[in-house]
Amino acid sequence: MGFVNGVLRSVGRKTSEQWHTELEASPATDASLALTTSHPEWVVAAIREALEAHEGGAVTDEQLRDALLADNTPSRPCLAFRRGEAADEPGVSPARWLPSAGIVDSGMPGEIGAVRDGRAIVQDEGSQLVVQALLSVPVTPPESSWLDMCAGPGGKAALLADAALADGVSLLAVELHPHRADLVRRIVGIESVDILTADATTRPWGSRFFDRILVDAPCTGLGALRRRPEARWRREPTDVPILGALQRRLLDVGLSSLRAGGVLGYVTCSPHIAETVDIVDEVLVHHDDVEILDAREYMPGVPDLGPGPHAQLWPHLHGTDAMHLALLRRT
Ligand SMILES: C[S@@+](CC[C@H](N)C(=O)[O-])C[C@H]1O[C@@H](n2cnc3c(N)ncnc32)[C@H](O)[C@@H]1O
Repeated sequence: MGFVNGVLRSVGRKTSEQWHTELEASPATDASLALTTSHPEWVVAAIREALEAHEGGAVTDEQLRDALLADNTPSRPCLAFRRGEAADEPGVSPARWLPSAGIVDSGMPGEIGAVRDGRAIVQDEGSQLVVQALLSVPVTPPESSWLDMCAGPGGKAALLADAALADGVSLLAVELHPHRADLVRRIVGIESVDILTADATTRPWGSRFFDRILVDAPCTGLGALRRRPEARWRREPTDVPILGALQRRLLDVGLSSLRAGGVLGYVTCSPHIAETVDIVDEVLVHHDDVEILDAREYMPGVPDLGPGPHAQLWPHLHGTDAMHLALLRRT
């Protein structure tokens, strides 16, 4: 219903003559693409800006249209097989990038044996790629503790927990909302993981420092529109600065809790520049002991991740959500 109302609101803002002029415009305008691809105009503008940054210059109508239309193409559920198990299971086909990622051939994920018995969880391959990237950055041993600052509902925490268990490292998963913290507990399913319901911006872990930190920040979710299509009409441009203030605070606290030599992954499921590159740039002004790593190096075999050092995935290029990853090391 929100989706329909949103479309009607944007159509009703112009007369039919104005729409004709817009739709015939070449190159296509944000307004014409908004109408032909069913997106609010501000979202088209944000995707255009992010895609231009990705390509290092102006993009063609076709490139932008491909990116927008990918939001209208529902994705089949993707599974993450836990503990590094390969996605070799009846009813599951290999995904594109990771051996432990698999696509459900048909039906509901709950019908797959590996999901029923807890060997696999539903998780987009982009989310799996950013966790694997964070885990694969070399950190001088020994490592003793990792932190997930925004853990709910817990997909990434589950993968971190499996690796932490294998490496003999402790994991603290923090989530603001109690019901989402419960989901983390259920999905992770590993007793030794410490799950804390708290506001991560208040540094509830006190003076502890961590070897690896994940900040999977609350964001507009503009990178996951193929899975939550209605979100484009629920979100407002005014959400971006509000979320931005929280994203900056979370990243700042995360960097201050990183031990020297430790690494932090700043992740959003949004390609919006104001939630990605801008946030990292602004926060790094206050952290002259932090260097930015080339995140693309930690997604081996995945092409077309942008000019770096950030890594940007796209549904139309990679078949994943438009996840963004920055990897930061405290020197
Ligand atoms: C993008 S989601 C994280 C997704 C999660 N990492 C996963 O893979 O399932 C962001 C999460 O941060 C939580 N959150 C928002 N503000 C927070 C805060 N101040 N402290 C801790 N968690 C927060 C939200 O409730 C939400 O569950």
